[in-house]
Amino acid sequence: MTVKRSIVLGTGSYLPERRLTNSDLADLVDTSDEWIVQRTGIRARHIAAEGEVTSDLAVHAARRALEAAKLEPADIDLIVLATATPDHTFPASAVTVQNKLGLTSGFAFDVHAVCSGFVYALTTADAYLRTGMARRALVIGAETFSRILDWNDRTTCVLFGDGAGALVLEAAEGDGTPADRGILTSHLRSDGAHKDKLYVDGGPSSTQTVGHLRMQGREVFRHAVSMITDVVEDAFAATGTDADSLDWFIPHQANRRIIDASAKKLGIDPAKVVVTLEDQGNTSAASIPLALDAAVRDGRVQRGDLIMLEAMGGGFTWGASLLRW
Ligand code: UT7
Repeated sequence: MTVKRSIVLGTGSYLPERRLTNSDLADLVDTSDEWIVQRTGIRARHIAAEGEVTSDLAVHAARRALEAAKLEPADIDLIVLATATPDHTFPASAVTVQNKLGLTSGFAFDVHAVCSGFVYALTTADAYLRTGMARRALVIGAETFSRILDWNDRTTCVLFGDGAGALVLEAAEGDGTPADRGILTSHLRSDGAHKDKLYVDGGPSSTQTVGHLRMQGREVFRHAVSMITDVVEDAFAATGTDADSLDWFIPHQANRRIIDASAKKLGIDPAKVVVTLEDQGNTSAASIPLALDAAVRDGRVQRGDLIMLEAMGGGFTWGASLLRW
């Protein structure tokens, strides 16, 4: 049976120039390189320059993805940008990206699911392509979390960084089997009962301020592994695949201990896990496309590879997408 699939034509990413190391942070708050590395695996993160906004990061990543796909901006008719740190309350930063790319056709919007944002955005774009509402999409995760951190709070400011990643999707035809190229299945979940465990204490309708990120880290940690493994198992079950058939596991990059524990519980060989958080920290919606782009550009990801993407974050939201390269 012929089905529509969204296949990836190219990836790109961007990290701001300024790199902030753990020892730099130890000058700001009562922390140490040893504590941060031991508890998270993070050694450095990148911070956007003054005046450099989320849409700027997104445009850099998008241009690189378009170049890899050998396409021009005009070839795109849908832009879905995952971000929790938009340039402005409105318009959507995706529309600013569209404008900076010189596009006046097609349509663009933001998706807001915090650290799960990229999986949500990818799933959304896939649905538009499969229903024929668009033909080629730019899916972007871009964040400037440095702007919403409380730089006096050592329990959060050491964890996050800025960055962007993007990919170009195109609608194609497949046979409806797991051997098809493209996105094979996606599974999204949320549960607002956990909304106070990871949130920003400001907003246009509540405080009329931007606010700062607040997190009960241990509580988030406690739920992360089971939520992640649940949706990944759902993706395996929906496609008749398993940990052994997987070539790459590309998780959201929040904490090395969460990544390792999830892979272990799922029975995924550690050699198949792509980890970039050491030099990037948690870049929220940008972390999966940043990691994917790194693994594509260094030659790990090859045509035909089976790749699992997964994320969990504020809301809580969580999700997984399985795709064949
Ligand atoms: O992307 C969205 C999802 N976010 C996450 O996945 C984050 C999930 N949570 C985590 O990754 C971990 O919970 C953290 C890395 C945030 C914290 O690790 P933990 O092992 O859960 O540490 P903890 O919160 O239990 O804190 C242990 C100790 C505390 O001191 P006491 O109470 O034992 O004396 C903290 O005050 O470590 C202290 N601490 C720090 N010490 C040095 C907390 N932050 C720091 C710090 N430097 N930066």
